[in-house]
Amino acid sequence: MEISKSKSVFFSPARKTGDITSLFVSSLGYEAEKYNITSYKKRDTAVNFSSNDLAVFAYPVYGGRVPDIMIKQLEKMKSNNTPAVIIAVYGNRAYEDALLEMQNILSEKGFIVIAAAAFIANHSIMTEVAVNRPDAQDNEKIKEFAERVKNKLKNIENILDIEKLNLPGDFPYREYNGIPLKPTGDSKCTTCGACVQNCPVNAIPAENPRKTDKTKCITCMGCAAICPQGARHLNKILHFLSEIPFKKKYGARKEPDIFV
Ligand SMILES: Cc1cc2nc3c(=O)[nH]c(=O)nc-3n(C[C@H](O)[C@H](O)[C@H](O)COP(=O)(O)O)c2cc1C
Ligand code: SF4
Ligand code: SF4
Repeated sequence: MEISKSKSVFFSPARKTGDITSLFVSSLGYEAEKYNITSYKKRDTAVNFSSNDLAVFAYPVYGGRVPDIMIKQLEKMKSNNTPAVIIAVYGNRAYEDALLEMQNILSEKGFIVIAAAAFIANHSIMTEVAVNRPDAQDNEKIKEFAERVKNKLKNIENILDIEKLNLPGDFPYREYNGIPLKPTGDSKCTTCGACVQNCPVNAIPAENPRKTDKTKCITCMGCAAICPQGARHLNKILHFLSEIPFKKKYGARKEPDIFV
């Protein structure tokens, strides 16, 4: 089948999912439209997909699941038997039900999932895990994934004949109720406002960006990743104490999984 353009929708507070999506989409070589739905200010986008678009949905894994924000955004998408690619990005612990959940949501919306992948990136909370990932080896895998997707598309005569991918995961999905730790700002804050703009849930007050509305915050760590002063972080002692056993358990390198 002929593809006229790729339309990628991605959520990426700490920006690794965005980097991976960009490399994937540019490696495909189609004309590309990108929808970054990270900031709460950019989330009123309703994207319509036609039958000769390639839809790409990319998101970080949160608690082995698809982030709620991504799920809510999908309610606004319209598909017409559009081929779709799923990219889940996780921090070297596990991606559990995150691919299966997305495949089920997209199938219900009329997308035909033709390929899926789980890539590894630096853990946005446990930042000593998967340091410097994605690296050169990962980037080669991302390009190879794009090549395989293009070849599969070329050989499709009727999209409705595509067999459903056999993705790992269990239903009912595992429970995820968020993380109790929430970052706040310290005295290094210059009130530049970058974290306020980038927060997915409007949890940082513009008048005092050192504060956090803990009832809204989803611990995405986007504010910590974007702050030029390194002023936003979790409670340092609690973080340090939880990172040591985490690193011990999940520090060993994992490799991407690709399903085409
Ligand atoms: C709230 C939260 C939950 C997470 N849950 C998982 C998880 O279940 N498994 C895992 O391996 N990584 C997990 N991570 C790590 C992220 O999936 C990973 O760092 C990802 O690259 C972040 O994407 P981003 O840079 O686009 O924000 C979690 C991160 C956050 C912030
Ligand atoms: S305040 Fe919470 S939700 Fe907002 S960017 Fe920071 S970690 Fe993410
Ligand atoms: S990005 Fe950093 S310096 Fe800028 S307002 Fe936020 S905490 Fe302050």
